[in-house]
Amino acid sequence: MFGKKVAVVYFSRLGTTKEIAQAFPLEEGDKIYEIKPVQEYPSSLFKAMAASKVENKTGEFPEIIKDDIDLSKYDNILIGFPIWYATAPRIIFSFLRENDMSEKTLFPFCTSHLAGVEQATADIREFYKKQNVNVKDGKRFKKYSEQTIKELLDF
Ligand SMILES: Cc1cc2nc3c(=O)[nH]c(=O)nc-3n(C[C@H](O)[C@H](O)[C@H](O)COP(=O)(O)O)c2cc1C
Repeated sequence: MFGKKVAVVYFSRLGTTKEIAQAFPLEEGDKIYEIKPVQEYPSSLFKAMAASKVENKTGEFPEIIKDDIDLSKYDNILIGFPIWYATAPRIIFSFLRENDMSEKTLFPFCTSHLAGVEQATADIREFYKKQNVNVKDGKRFKKYSEQTIKELLDF
């Protein structure tokens, strides 16, 4: 449906985004990859919010557990994350900084309680303003359902 090979890349602290990512129907040659932080985020909501707030404020790039991920064969990258403070968690920008996305198309999707994906999409576009990365308008879900997957396939 995307025409080319797809890599589904996601970060999820509590599993909501993960459930969607894992339900995405991969075709032969597609790949799924979880972004895992070196320093795990606290399970306590308030502590996680405090950690995220500090990261946003300092604009840091939290360290990702090193893996042998090679995205060179993938032209289409579905990138999933929870909304944290109205945008993508900083670790998503760590991933985007470490992996060359030029000439690729990014399909952002997120889960959130309420917030839309627009700010995250805008921030990812801003991050790549000097590179040739096609960032599609993102999609936002509350949680997994069959409809979620239909919407992702209809990106
Ligand atoms: C640090 C933090 C900040 C959050 N900020 C927002 C927010 O600004 N707007 C919103 O609707 N939900 C917010 N949420 C809720 C998450 O986006 C939501 O629970 C998401 O589905 C969690 O995904 P996960 O289970 O994959 O980690 C926040 C959650 C955390 C932990």
